Amino acid sequence: MISQDIFENCVMRAALAPTVHNTQPARWTRDGDVISLFCDTDVGLQVGDPTGRDAALSCGAVLEGMALALSAHGLGAQVTETGRNTAPGQGLVPVAHLTVRDGPEDRLHAHLEARFTWRGAFEDAPPVLYGWTRSDTRFVLSQGEREWIAARNDEASLAVMADGAFRTELVNWMRLSDTHPRAGRDGMDRAALQMTAAQARLVPWALVKLWPVLSRLGLAKTLVSEVEVTSKSPLIALFHRDISESAVTSGRAYLRLCLEAASLGLAGWPMAALSDHPPTCDAVYRRFGLPPDRRFIQAIRFGRPTGAAPPRARRPLAEVLR
Ligand SMILES: Cc1cc2nc3c(=O)[nH]c(=O)nc-3n(C[C@H](O)[C@H](O)[C@H](O)COP(=O)(O)O)c2cc1C
Repeated sequence: MISQDIFENCVMRAALAPTVHNTQPARWTRDGDVISLFCDTDVGLQVGDPTGRDAALSCGAVLEGMALALSAHGLGAQVTETGRNTAPGQGLVPVAHLTVRDGPEDRLHAHLEARFTWRGAFEDAPPVLYGWTRSDTRFVLSQGEREWIAARNDEASLAVMADGAFRTELVNWMRLSDTHPRAGRDGMDRAALQMTAAQARLVPWALVKLWPVLSRLGLAKTLVSEVEVTSKSPLIALFHRDISESAVTSGRAYLRLCLEAASLGLAGWPMAALSDHPPTCDAVYRRFGLPPDRRFIQAIRFGRPTGAAPPRARRPLAEVLR
């Protein structure tokens, strides 16, 4: 039987997976050799993720993290997804049950600690991919295509940010001061957002209170613009999965994509607006010829970061065990 120590070690390693806004919705229980994963839909994004797809994708990434962490102990898991909807506001929703058994080590687990989101400039050099390919990912390397994506990303971000409730929810998940009660535990902190203390103090003003004025003056677009860094990102990955697949299964593959990149020394910076904003999503399908039976899940900038990984904010064990 899996010991409590190993279970807790695997829970903490699984929690290193990326989650939307760093909400970390995954919760765990264990009954002997059966581990259950729940989604805490009360931390779901009412505005940014009303269907709970991003929450399910995030839980899937954590689930894959658990499978990888178990493999480091010579354990495997037979996974049964519940197929339950994870829309916000339903409390704890069961996502999957894992029956633990013996299994081979999956060396990808070694990169769980190395992966992080990098929201800054990347080294200005073509990435060395050592023949890396994935059937579920279109790698965009050409300058022209990256510039096209960079321009669409700015347009889509501006369109998504036009919704005041979206901006308020986003700011509520930012931990802009070190004294925020949740700093270091969840959400996106100042260092992860690559902001100075002075910039961080301005964020609630710029994104919430003054936005309508800034928008009327045509200044809002400069606030959200990432065109410079996006067009200079050495690699943009367009991650797409079978349209009929569950978001949890897609999330499992998403973590593997991010870990494979980490194994090559690449950090990622997602551009969720490209897939979340329907007209832009359609434009990406057309431009890159993505077939209709594939779901464009996310575009991610990848490159070698020009600085060290920011400190990681994660919930303590007591918050994720039930
Ligand atoms: C579904 C999903 C969507 C995300 N969208 C964005 C995004 O649009 N922009 C961004 O900067 N980070 C995005 N992220 C990254 C998360 O904010 C990040 O994983 C989280 O803050 C934890 O930080 P870490 O990846 O460094 O561990 C997304 C992550 C997931 C799983």
